[in-house]
Amino acid sequence: MSFDRSIKIAPSILSADFANFGAEIQAIEAQGADWVHIDVMDGHFVPNLTFGPPAVKAFRPHVKTVMDVHLMITPVDPYIQAYADAGADILTAHVEAGAHTHRTLQAIRAAGMKAGVALNPGTPADAVEHLLDLTDLVCVMTVNPGFGGQKFIDMTNKIRKLQSMIGDRPIHIEIDGGVDPKTAPLVAAAGADVLVAGSAVFKGGSVDNPDVYGANIKAVRSAAESATS
Ligand code: DX5
Ligand code: ZN
Repeated sequence: MSFDRSIKIAPSILSADFANFGAEIQAIEAQGADWVHIDVMDGHFVPNLTFGPPAVKAFRPHVKTVMDVHLMITPVDPYIQAYADAGADILTAHVEAGAHTHRTLQAIRAAGMKAGVALNPGTPADAVEHLLDLTDLVCVMTVNPGFGGQKFIDMTNKIRKLQSMIGDRPIHIEIDGGVDPKTAPLVAAAGADVLVAGSAVFKGGSVDNPDVYGANIKAVRSAAESATS
């Protein structure tokens, strides 16, 4: 995985057909997805339950781009090796998930993955200031995590603050929640480079009608790029 700050669209398969993940992943990649975003929820850190390491391992052969795994679970540390074995390229843990995020990020890197740290909307940018040297990606939540299809919460000031804290370090700023062609320009202009989008990508399409995914991805990408050029 090489580092660059170009706009990357990461569809969240939380909005895919749960009976057909392999074909859905292949369809979004064929239609221009840069990364594939996988939302792991434990029914405890967030009020919803999705999938665990065996499912993520089953997704792996279908992902030819980057498998970006977002853990909305606590505790994190006992499961890090399982997600490495499942083939995650990036593993993101929430800074709110435990008292020792510093140790968690070290363990993610030691297991051979890129380390991400996510912030809930109520958590300030300062919470990750002393973690940045251990971090490859900061995920700014623009909804309270747990469900797809929620309304975007404006975190533009937090994104700007993070961007200035990061400086020229090779750390992605990822935005997760309510990203669509209307909100993408706001976050891209503030400094985000990875845009997660669930409903905005899968809306109206299917594996039998994948061109809609392509048009949806293109709409988010063009809107974001128009704000950065
Ligand atoms: C929210 C998840 C998101 C979600 C985004 O808890 O982390 O990745 O699927 O979905 P949309 O784009 O529909 O807000
Ligand atoms: Zn997510």
